[in-house]
Amino acid sequence: MRSASAAATWLIAVMTVTPMAGQSPQTKILVAHRGASAYAPEHTIPGYELAIAQGADFVEQDLAVTKDGVLVCVHDLTLERTTDVEAVFPDRFVDVKVGPGAGRHWLVNDFTLDEIKRLDAGSWFDKKFAGARIPTFQEAIDLVRGRAGLYPELKDPEFYGQRGVRPERLFAEILQRNGLLVDSGTPVILQSFDETTLQKAARDIPQVPRVFLVEPKDAARLDTADKVREIARWATGLGPSKVIVANQPALVKWAHQAGLSVTPWTFRSGTTGGYASVREEMSHFLYTLGVDALFTDNPDQFPRRP
Ligand code: G3P
Ligand code: CA
Repeated sequence: MRSASAAATWLIAVMTVTPMAGQSPQTKILVAHRGASAYAPEHTIPGYELAIAQGADFVEQDLAVTKDGVLVCVHDLTLERTTDVEAVFPDRFVDVKVGPGAGRHWLVNDFTLDEIKRLDAGSWFDKKFAGARIPTFQEAIDLVRGRAGLYPELKDPEFYGQRGVRPERLFAEILQRNGLLVDSGTPVILQSFDETTLQKAARDIPQVPRVFLVEPKDAARLDTADKVREIARWATGLGPSKVIVANQPALVKWAHQAGLSVTPWTFRSGTTGGYASVREEMSHFLYTLGVDALFTDNPDQFPRRP
C-alpha cells in the first residue's frame, strides 16, 4: 500500500511539474473504482477496505443525496440495482424515466438516510457480503482519511437541480467540516461529467483539484489541442473513457502541455478488449500511452512498474 502522503506528493507533481515539463510524472496513481469492485460490492465498507488493502492511492465515491439531504455513496440515481429496496419498500417506487427506459424506480432522493440504512447493499453481489450497508460520504471519509485519497464524483446535477437540491453545496460543506479544504494529508480530487459543476467548484473551492469526465459519445470535446487548452481554464485534469484515449493517443500530450493530468476509466477484468489481461491493458495505457493514473475495479492488478 502506498501512503496518502505519496499520493499528495503526486498531486503536487501533476499540478506543478507537469505543466512546466510537458510530460507525465513518473509515479502512476491507482484509483479504486467504486472500491475494489471486482471483488466486493461497489460502494460498501468491505469494498473500500479491500481497495486500501490492495494498495489504492485513491478510493472513488459516486455521490447521491438522500431525502433528508445527506451525501451517500451510490453510483445510480436509483437503489434497485445494488440493494434489496424492492423487497423492503415494495410500494415506494415511482414511474419515471431514468437511464435508458421508463419504469418502476426507487430513487435515492426519495428515501431518508434511516430508510436507506435498512437496505442490504451486499447480497446482490455475493451472499457472503449480506448486510453491507450504503455508506454515507462521512463514513467513507472516516474510513479512507490518512490511508488513501478521496476521489468523489458529483453526478446528475439536472435531476437534483429540479428538486431544489444542491449537491455541490453539501459537498463543499462536508469538506469544510472535515478540514479537507486545507492541506490535511488526505488529498481530495473532485470529478464530474458536468462542466458547470466543475466551474462552480473552481470558483467556490478552487483548492480542490477538478477532473472533467468525458464519455465516448462526447469525444469531440477533446479532439484538438485548442479544445483541451480551453478546458484547462476550469479543470485540473481529464477523465476520459479509455476508448477516447485509445482512439486518440495524442490527447495525453495535449493534456500535459495544458497542465492537465489524464485519468482514464474503467479498467476491469473481463472487458480488456484485445489485451491478455487487465494488468497488461493498464500497463499499456500507463507506460506506452503515458496516462498519469487510472480507475480500475481490480486494484490488485495495477502495474506499479512497466
Ligand atoms: O468516474 C470515473 C468513472 O467511474 C465514470 O463512470 O459510470 O462508473 O461513474 P461511472
Ligand atoms: Ca464514477
